[in-house]
Amino acid sequence: MIKLAPSILSADFSQLAESVKAVENAGCEYLHIDVMDGHFVPNITFGAVVFEKLRKKSNMTFDCHLMIEQPDLYLEDFVKAGADIITVHQEACVHLNRTIHHIKELGCKAGVAINPATSPQALEYVLQDVDMVLIMSVNPGFGGQKFIPQSLDKIKKLKQMIDAKNYNVDIQVDGGVSVDNIHDIVTAGANIVVAGSAIFGKDNIQKAVSNLRDSAEQS
Ligand code: DX5
Ligand code: ZN
Repeated sequence: MIKLAPSILSADFSQLAESVKAVENAGCEYLHIDVMDGHFVPNITFGAVVFEKLRKKSNMTFDCHLMIEQPDLYLEDFVKAGADIITVHQEACVHLNRTIHHIKELGCKAGVAINPATSPQALEYVLQDVDMVLIMSVNPGFGGQKFIPQSLDKIKKLKQMIDAKNYNVDIQVDGGVSVDNIHDIVTAGANIVVAGSAIFGKDNIQKAVSNLRDSAEQS
């Protein structure tokens, strides 16, 4: 069974709480929260204060994707705001091992994300310490971009690395997911799928979620 993680980046910010309720009622398990700092990526979104308010209104798993430089400086804020999983970028962390352990010491699950140009091999020596790897299937910074096809090969390679060592690590895929490619993404080995425009960009959220699930599970 895959888990769906709607990205609030594509939600209507003037009615964020209602949008979150809609995806929760549609059965989505994770809420994907894209934090951008205008340095690591060329866009700025929001910080911990915004989703701290949402925390009180939802029981979903708060999945915090930090597209920021020096994430260590802000980890405590995100944990206090109610993050369940914090994902940092391999490319943004000089001391990745230390950052992963910092997240876990704060009582959170730890994820590591890799950009489209980064090989899964870059994670070989941290794989045993993380709860989740996020494969970016677009260049991070914006919703609504086109899925980069080489990502499928990366998912397969990462899955092989995890299975070869018998690790218990989730594979999340983020960027350009749609009803047309979700089946291939899941078949390649992903078990948590982020979707922004494919959910919040649709008029009927319930229908968009069930269409994604149906496509993912078709044989
Ligand atoms: C991109 C973000 C994604 C994005 C996904 O930098 O990390 O989570 O919101 O949006 P879609 O699904 O529209 O590509
Ligand atoms: Zn994201």
